[in-house]
Amino acid sequence: MNIANRILNFFYFKKKENSLKEIFYKHNDNLINKWDHYLDIYDQYFSRYRGSDVKILEIGISQGGSLQMWRKYFGNSAEIYAIDINPECSKFSDSGVEIFIGSQEDHNFLRKIKREIPKVDIIVDDGGHMMRQQIITFEEMFDHVKADGIYICEDLHTSYWSEFGGGYKKKDTFIEYSKNFIDYLNAWHSRNIDKFSVNDFTKSVKSVHYYDSIIVIEKGVIDSPRKVKVGVKVIEDMVFTSDDISRK
Ligand SMILES: C[S@@+](CC[C@H](N)C(=O)[O-])C[C@H]1O[C@@H](n2cnc3c(N)ncnc32)[C@H](O)[C@@H]1O
Repeated sequence: MNIANRILNFFYFKKKENSLKEIFYKHNDNLINKWDHYLDIYDQYFSRYRGSDVKILEIGISQGGSLQMWRKYFGNSAEIYAIDINPECSKFSDSGVEIFIGSQEDHNFLRKIKREIPKVDIIVDDGGHMMRQQIITFEEMFDHVKADGIYICEDLHTSYWSEFGGGYKKKDTFIEYSKNFIDYLNAWHSRNIDKFSVNDFTKSVKSVHYYDSIIVIEKGVIDSPRKVKVGVKVIEDMVFTSDDISRK
């Protein structure tokens, strides 16, 4: 993109009336199905990609409205990929919009997509919202997000709804599965490396954010953490053991 276009893009995408929320509520084309509070969350993580040749993969097409929304939000250079199990959704393929028909639970289908498309900046899982679907999709597709990209799984409230395979603290819900991410982030500090050690997630994820019904995973190349000190020591430290503290 030339400099003039970059400048024009910058001002266009900075304007408040062009926020995702504004775009959503002005939309009168194909139906879009989102929760209102997701829109600001998306804006927070996606705005840096506006006007660029961002590559986004959305799982779950439904009426095709969200694909139109991403086009309006990201601009004409965006490459949009989308997956749905419903063959009718193939009609939403367009210039810069590639549709894949199949199930997000099907490992082979997802692997085939990875062979056909480049690594993407963003994945949004808004598909069937069943536990297996969310977990398999994450396990297959997370490594297809670029090293500084973003993975979002939405509608996590289904982790609490039995009709989706959910239940409070139930094993194998996406929420329970994703709680392991907290350990992975902190694995540098493990003192039991047979059971708990640095893995690919530890080395490739900058942060994990939970919101109502949404998880946002921000990738980044992470090195082993360094403890650093500056300044001058001015008093002697006292060393307390947990026994000392419990005796007080
Ligand atoms: C919530 S809708 C998607 C809404 C759309 N992203 C939007 O914002 O308007 C969920 C979609 O997931 C699709 N779906 C359900 N099970 C699926 C599966 N196993 N694999 C792929 N897509 C699936 C459904 O056909 C449906 O179109």
